[in-house]
Amino acid sequence: MDEGFRLFPDQASTVAPRVDALYTFLLSVSGFFTVGIFIAIVYLAIKYRHGRPKDRPRPEPQQLWMLEAAWIVIPLALTMVMFFWGAILYFEMRTIPADAIELQVVGKQWMWKIYHPQGRSEINELHVPVGRPVRLKMISEDVIHSFYVPAFRVKMDVMPGRYTAMWFEATKPGEYDLYCAEYCGTEHANMSGRVFVMNPADYAEWLQGSATETPQAAGSKLFTQFRCHTCHHDDSELRSPPLRGIFNHRVALADGRSVQADDGYLRESIVNPMAKVTAGFPPVMPAYEGQLTEEQLLQLIEYIKSLPPRGRENGPT
Ligand code: CUA
Repeated sequence: MDEGFRLFPDQASTVAPRVDALYTFLLSVSGFFTVGIFIAIVYLAIKYRHGRPKDRPRPEPQQLWMLEAAWIVIPLALTMVMFFWGAILYFEMRTIPADAIELQVVGKQWMWKIYHPQGRSEINELHVPVGRPVRLKMISEDVIHSFYVPAFRVKMDVMPGRYTAMWFEATKPGEYDLYCAEYCGTEHANMSGRVFVMNPADYAEWLQGSATETPQAAGSKLFTQFRCHTCHHDDSELRSPPLRGIFNHRVALADGRSVQADDGYLRESIVNPMAKVTAGFPPVMPAYEGQLTEEQLLQLIEYIKSLPPRGRENGPT
């Protein structure tokens, strides 16, 4: 992979060439005006230097009008191109395809842990298939980190207490660098790893190796271990809000608001249940703040997401 000095990292994702095109445009516009202005400064400083006998006529009003129009219209057009080009690319990079594979990432001082839905997990390594969109759901166990893969041109902060997400689709099998791009303590510079982009067949084979339990199965055990099931069982709907089919549905709250039951809501409702109390239920759930690791929270949430809606309990999960 290493071919000596190179100005840019590999272009290994669908957005990489497009990010580079925009970057090249911005750099060219800045370069053009920087060079043009410096040449004009030097030229005019010599031409009109002190003591040189030279005509200094007043410009015609007509010339002034054209000059003013030019310095309004040209920069406006250029900055509007920058704005719309940048905005379109930004929204595409923020819109996660519905068919993306979801991997979970936990950052902590000073390592990356990555969990695959089939049960494999890895540290400071990320294996992904080529040609499939991959979504990363990320959270930090301690301070702010930032997940950065230069070859994919993607970077996203990884926050304590809050899920963030990003996605990419790798286009070239190979090995790429992974960095933490937010200063996070003494070992920040070593918080790096490798991304392996694999052919689908190799990836499927890799997923088989040393798989432990799925996050969902681990979450099911935690659900019992932390005695969640004593209140949240199927016949308990007077005492606790139903969990079946809750994911991505709207929940009415006691204070009149309603929220989308996404990953962030489920996590908050475990660590701090009083923050958003479901309408019609007494606020009796204890807070689990500090009792569960981020890994355990991810597992519990996967388990809750896997519960089939009521009436379809015997269907496939
Ligand atoms: Cu984690 Cu820098």
